[in-house]
Amino acid sequence: MKVCVVGSGGREHALAHVLSRTAEVVVAPGNPGMAAPIEITDEPLEEVEADLYVIGPEAPLVNGLADRLRQQGRAVMGPGADGALLEGSKAHMKEILSTAGVPTAHFATFDSLQTEEALAFLDTLSGPWVIKTDGLAAGKGVLVAHTMEQARADVVAKLSGSSFGDAGRHIVVEEGLEGEECSLLVLCDGTTAVPLLPAQDFKRVRDGDEGPNTGGMGAYAPMPEVGPELVGKIMDTAVTPLITEMCRRGIDYRGVLYAGLMLGPDGPKVIEYNVRFGDPEAQVVLPLLSCDAAELFLAVANGTLDEMPAPTFSGDAAVCVVLASAGYPDNLRTGDPITGLHLNGQSTAPVEGVTVFHAGTRRTSVKGPFRTAGGRVLGVTAVAPTLEEARANAYAGAAPIEWDGMQLRRDIAAAAARAVTENVG
Ligand code: AMP
Ligand code: GLY
Repeated sequence: MKVCVVGSGGREHALAHVLSRTAEVVVAPGNPGMAAPIEITDEPLEEVEADLYVIGPEAPLVNGLADRLRQQGRAVMGPGADGALLEGSKAHMKEILSTAGVPTAHFATFDSLQTEEALAFLDTLSGPWVIKTDGLAAGKGVLVAHTMEQARADVVAKLSGSSFGDAGRHIVVEEGLEGEECSLLVLCDGTTAVPLLPAQDFKRVRDGDEGPNTGGMGAYAPMPEVGPELVGKIMDTAVTPLITEMCRRGIDYRGVLYAGLMLGPDGPKVIEYNVRFGDPEAQVVLPLLSCDAAELFLAVANGTLDEMPAPTFSGDAAVCVVLASAGYPDNLRTGDPITGLHLNGQSTAPVEGVTVFHAGTRRTSVKGPFRTAGGRVLGVTAVAPTLEEARANAYAGAAPIEWDGMQLRRDIAAAAARAVTENVG
């Protein structure tokens, strides 16, 4: 089988890596860290012949790329624009979740003519207060405010257009939820849905969840405290009702449904839905698959998941540590030369089970040095029998890699690995 992965980030590198175990893989446009047997191409997508197209990022999905490819008779993993609106508009997502009866934070939506109403709504919530831009903002349009003053200032800044331009002129204001966050990636073929392993992402830029939100600074999977029973409950309360509601609206959703959840005292609640694999969740969930990923994804595209055995996993744990550019996420600087990588893009400190996924790198010649070219630059993923070993190996693989101003969190999966060790001991 030949699979075309669409995108150029760390998630797409992980997709290509795992698909290349059993299939021929071409990535459009890909990135310079993707080495043989993965092929990269800068040809227009219409000219790339493949048996299956897997679309990585949200923007092309929201813009209808899956629809266009399907109209040409191609097999596509990724929802059409109607399904992708779930991520394209948070207001739409909240509306569909409410209609479907999916538990989610209490909320209201406002536009730029409703600043007074939005400020009044803040008064009805007890805090923390969460203010989100309605449209896509690469994970950065969300503020969790712990003081009313900060919440009010953010509402005014967003609605006036001063902080996010027009993208901020529609907002969702909601109650802050407390608990552990969990990302559950679910494969859906239109009617049948199967969960992959639960993962945890680290959204804030600095250790101890300090600093602004980012696209994700690291992840691990599986989450030891989210066992099959809890995954079943999440499917029953948060996923199946949503798919039923989408079917009722005539939406044939074939792709990944990514449920961002808060596991709180009243049970799991949905923070958000995304319409694609999480990044960096993909970098930890996909390498743990022990079945044929290409066959599995083709079944998603063809609507035949019910004819497939359930996905299987190796039983290992995975940890991904993201290395980010100087100044990320607010004032990022790119173009810094990276040391500690071989010509093939992998770490100069080889550790068994460790892969360096490239996200934002470029090079000026085939054998030239890699340079930073985005906010999140590299993701170092380790797969090992335990979370503790995976964590140690990911940091060992990352150790020689450096550039001026490089940022990484030192506490990825630390608490979870400690909890597992204490429970065993
Ligand atoms: P979103 O883009 O909606 O996923 O939000 C990004 C991040 O903001 C989430 O992963 C959470 O860490 C945080 N967040 C969003 N909504 C809430 C909420 N209602 N309560 C607490 N934290 C939230
Ligand atoms: N890691 C969060 C996301 O992909 O949205």
